[in-house]
Amino acid sequence: MEKVYIETYGCQMNFADSEVVGSILTGAGYGLADEVEGADFVLINTCAIRDNAEQRVRHRVRELRALQNRRRNLRIGILGCMAERLQSRLMEEEDNLSFVCGPDAYRRLPELLAQVRGGQKAAEVELSTTETYADIEPVRLASNGISAYISIMRGCQNYCAYCVVPYTRGRERSRDPQTIVDEARSLFGRGYREVTLLGQNVNSYGWNAESAGNRVGFPELLARVAAIDPALRVRFATSHPKDLSDSLLEVMAQHANICRCIHLPVQSGSNRMLKLMNRKYTVEWYLDRVDAIRRYLPDCSITTDVIAGFSTETEEDHRQTLDLFRRVRYDYAYMFKYSLREGTYAARHLADDIDEAEKTRRLNEIIALQGQIALENNRREVGREYEVLIEGESHRSKERLFGRNSQNKVIVFDRADAQPGTYRRVRVDDCTAATLLGTLTD
Ligand code: SAH
Ligand code: SF4
Ligand code: F3S
Repeated sequence: MEKVYIETYGCQMNFADSEVVGSILTGAGYGLADEVEGADFVLINTCAIRDNAEQRVRHRVRELRALQNRRRNLRIGILGCMAERLQSRLMEEEDNLSFVCGPDAYRRLPELLAQVRGGQKAAEVELSTTETYADIEPVRLASNGISAYISIMRGCQNYCAYCVVPYTRGRERSRDPQTIVDEARSLFGRGYREVTLLGQNVNSYGWNAESAGNRVGFPELLARVAAIDPALRVRFATSHPKDLSDSLLEVMAQHANICRCIHLPVQSGSNRMLKLMNRKYTVEWYLDRVDAIRRYLPDCSITTDVIAGFSTETEEDHRQTLDLFRRVRYDYAYMFKYSLREGTYAARHLADDIDEAEKTRRLNEIIALQGQIALENNRREVGREYEVLIEGESHRSKERLFGRNSQNKVIVFDRADAQPGTYRRVRVDDCTAATLLGTLTD
């Protein structure tokens, strides 16, 4: 049996896609290798969001050349967003690649592999307006058997000025809700205790049932998944602030097993920047949504993404971002320097005019502020008690386990009689900016 090794970079959606790819290929008679060494094909599922994400993959492809020199029949292919963005050009630039396959073409992978086996090159990069892989039951790769991702939609057509995703993932489309509920139920039946529903903008999820007037939106989908069992935790990402509705917050408030954590990428605290970024909301709108979250769900954590040094960003714009961070007091933030992406609105119409050193300085200021806020937030947790879903052994010590509370904060504690995959009560005794330290109380 020939074996494939799948290596994944990028966002959660890419990790979910790799599991679909694994399922398609095992269905076609391939085995899955757990390391490059035993594989006949290496499939690298890639991200194109920032230049450094692409450079990492190119570095990896070049590193694999040494292995190919020893094993002449080893074929390497690129999946995902870089495959879609660069298409056959990527195989010209990295000549040890045998194929590229875009995110909507994974059903064709068995044919692609058959084609390249003899040394040919091949590219499949057609985007689709309908593909959701709804009927494919993903194989769970590198799974802890406790948490799983479920893709509920694909694509994005928000066209934020800086972002490559609409070009690499195509038009937005939603998956049949029944297949989503069935997948979650089947996971729960196999012992999973947490599912994360994934889409670039889950709030615009929508499925029109055959009977007219029967539209299933995201709040209803979420309620249906949460109703499977109170012991199944439900998370979701990502929420675009422009579409975060009160009805979603109401559904969350009605179900204790929908986790108290909302990822709400802000990108900038300056209205001028938000407009230039085509984010379609203002700082005032965003803060109103934050207030709504705190009203419906007083114990909800809020996390974000932010970009430093977008086109024409001034010191004043940057200062407004810092102010916004002080207002919202995020529990966690993913913080990035602006990276120009070919083909986007910003690449075509806006200058990448903040120099690298200045971008770095601004980013570091945001990182330092956020580190301080996260630590202060965590200090307030000391003394509180949470229900924790235990995920496994702490990386530092076998004597300790770690899990997460509903707010998605990691809590580490002495293991005693506790078991991964179960819920236990843990009191927080101490913390760092990233982790809570606690003790079992039940
Ligand atoms: N769909 C999600 C985000 C997906 S990309 C949303 O709209 O919020 C994840 C994050 O990468 C974005 O939120 C943004 O902060 C960052 N990002 C996207 N394009 C970028 C670019 N060109 N340079 C730097 N960061 C970028
Ligand atoms: Fe990119 Fe904007 Fe779509 Fe998010 S919503 S994926 S940032 S275009
Ligand atoms: Fe990257 Fe594509 Fe996700 S560009 S962030 S892997 S959708």
